[in-house]
Amino acid sequence: MSLLFSKTTLGALTPQNRLVMAPMTRNRAIDNIPNELMAQYYAQRASAGLIITEGTSPSPDGLGYPRIPGIFSAAQVDGWKRVTEAVHPLGAKMFMQLMHCGRVAHPLNLPPGARVLAPSAIAAAGEMYTDAGGMKANATPEAMTELDIRASVEEFAQAAKNAVAAGCDGVELHGANGYLLEQFIRPTSNRRTDGYGGAIENRARFVLEVVAAVIGAIGKDKVGIRLSPFGVFNDMPVYPAMEADYTYLLRELDGTGLAYVHLVDHSSMGAPSVPESMKATFRRLFKRTVILSGGYDAVRAESDLQAGKCDLVAFARPFLANPDLVARWKAGPALNSPDSGTFYTPGPKGYTDYPVLPVAA
Ligand SMILES: Cc1cc2nc3c(=O)[nH]c(=O)nc-3n(C[C@H](O)[C@H](O)[C@H](O)COP(=O)(O)O)c2cc1C
Repeated sequence: MSLLFSKTTLGALTPQNRLVMAPMTRNRAIDNIPNELMAQYYAQRASAGLIITEGTSPSPDGLGYPRIPGIFSAAQVDGWKRVTEAVHPLGAKMFMQLMHCGRVAHPLNLPPGARVLAPSAIAAAGEMYTDAGGMKANATPEAMTELDIRASVEEFAQAAKNAVAAGCDGVELHGANGYLLEQFIRPTSNRRTDGYGGAIENRARFVLEVVAAVIGAIGKDKVGIRLSPFGVFNDMPVYPAMEADYTYLLRELDGTGLAYVHLVDHSSMGAPSVPESMKATFRRLFKRTVILSGGYDAVRAESDLQAGKCDLVAFARPFLANPDLVARWKAGPALNSPDSGTFYTPGPKGYTDYPVLPVAA
């Protein structure tokens, strides 16, 4: 009996299987507005149990990359409505990933008047692609004032309401991979001396306030969070108290009642692996759904599900390159390989043109 292909529950939902399409930024949202091409892309992948959308900004300030979608304007809500209307009749549930890029940004990617914000005025090492000027060093952010923090928490709550208005089944808060929420968690990017910096109880405060506000806005069953302990992407070095810090965070998150935690292990992409002890802590301390992701194939996914390490498994590159991933894994033929040259380029090439198996008559 395959657990991977069996129905499950997630909050109040019953996804048709345990395969999750992991969030993937694809940079096809011209003017930061979702469009027909994106609706087609997601609809092609709707045999997943759950689709987590690409990172979508709750604020003009959070649009660090070019051509990523937002969910703060009426046009964006309308655009996302077309996406959810294309996906839902085909089976998948849909959570929108709310991603505020924070300091992983360049002003050339931001609309007029938007600001590069972060807990502290420390730039992330590395460069950022801009349509207007090619590669640029990540900007030095402004340290957020308490007023900025209040406003940002509000933006997340409103964005969650907008996502639900657009037909999403819920939202995933992007607390991973070096973006704003993780910038608050980690001591290298957060050097604040007020109630949001210093001890982990303070560094976790912003994340927990966002979680509470979003739960207040749309209900705990509709909220998940993605975390990347031991992730190093976007200049987030490993530090000695990592495991203890995330253990604290997990305990607090469990207390909020949110629907799921989504742990990412990017060792398949060159990051240090997440220790088994950390994964076990996620499982032990979090009483509802646990999603694992990073470098999975169907065999390892089934094995981790059978071992009780998680409830669902998320796949990124396999879904990117195989719109009919579920059918392929059921039937057994080889997968298409992802073309990294078209991960982030505009247009249908490498986006909606991956071949699918012929459907039996
Ligand atoms: C093209 C691309 C874009 C990605 N964008 C996001 C994103 O917007 N949000 C996020 O949390 N992770 C993002 N990731 C990370 C993936 O969700 C996933 O964790 C990673 O690819 C490892 O999983 P895999 O081995 O199944 O590909 C992205 C990965 C790829 C390949």
